[in-house]
Amino acid sequence: MLSELRAVRYVTPLREGGSLPGLVEARGVGGDPGLWVAKFTGAAQGRKALVAEVVSGELARRLGLRVPELVTVEVDPVLVVGEPDERVQDLVKASGGTNLGMAFLSRALGFDPLAFPVDPLTAGRVLWLDALIGNVDRSWRNPNLLVRAGELWLIDHGASLIFHHNWPRAAAAVDKPYDASDHALLRFGPDLAAADAELAPLVTERLLREVLALVPEVWLDGEPGFGSAQEVREAYVAQLAGRVSGGRDWLPEAAA
Ligand SMILES: Nc1ncnc2c1ncn2[C@@H]1O[C@H](COP(=O)(O)OP(=O)(O)O)[C@@H](O)[C@H]1O
Ligand SMILES: [Mg+2]
Repeated sequence: MLSELRAVRYVTPLREGGSLPGLVEARGVGGDPGLWVAKFTGAAQGRKALVAEVVSGELARRLGLRVPELVTVEVDPVLVVGEPDERVQDLVKASGGTNLGMAFLSRALGFDPLAFPVDPLTAGRVLWLDALIGNVDRSWRNPNLLVRAGELWLIDHGASLIFHHNWPRAAAAVDKPYDASDHALLRFGPDLAAADAELAPLVTERLLREVLALVPEVWLDGEPGFGSAQEVREAYVAQLAGRVSGGRDWLPEAAA
């Protein structure tokens, strides 16, 4: 299970982002408050974006990539009483209950390819992950990569796993090619063959089940066409396992 925190203060919106994540102070039972980036269920992208954050982020972590800690954050809309920004008011009021938190990396900088060269194997690992999860949000315009103390961190996986927006057609899209033409790390000569050889054997059904078990039930309940949250979890496992165990039509050319 992800750690369960409760938001105690809304600090500020993070305005660069489209989904209006908020910086909040949150604490666990008996713990000290810390700073977390909250992603809200009431955002336009809805709870599926949060499912994608957890599944893709926790998968990335298990493949050895750096992702800030993910937790759940309970939000009481009373937090934003007096908040002057109406968009924030509306968003947080629509997001009572369980939301996502990502550890805030203070003093991190946005990734700048000119200032931070990435080795081909690391670039290959990140691109391989993005191809597997179909992440459309890692372009050079909007890399969703942070750099702190010489380390590369992956954030913002809400726009991955797009198959979950159309479950009836998901099986037919299992080998869907990934368009890497705008990818932030393409210029570093990503070694996709090495990344595939290293990472594919790690993405087992067992690992995927472990990852899916971390998704809060309330974000999966009531999905049309499924009898239970557990069935939805299994559909994600089957989709990702099927992608890894099949051919490599989904991997960009560079791997061939
Ligand atoms: N864990 C974090 N630590 C530090 N800054 C972050 C973190 N997560 C997000 N940010 C900052 O907030 C911005 C928006 O967050 P992001 O997750 O990319 O949301 P959006 O879906 O709106 O693009 C990021 O581009 C980054 O500048
Ligand atoms: Mg972003």
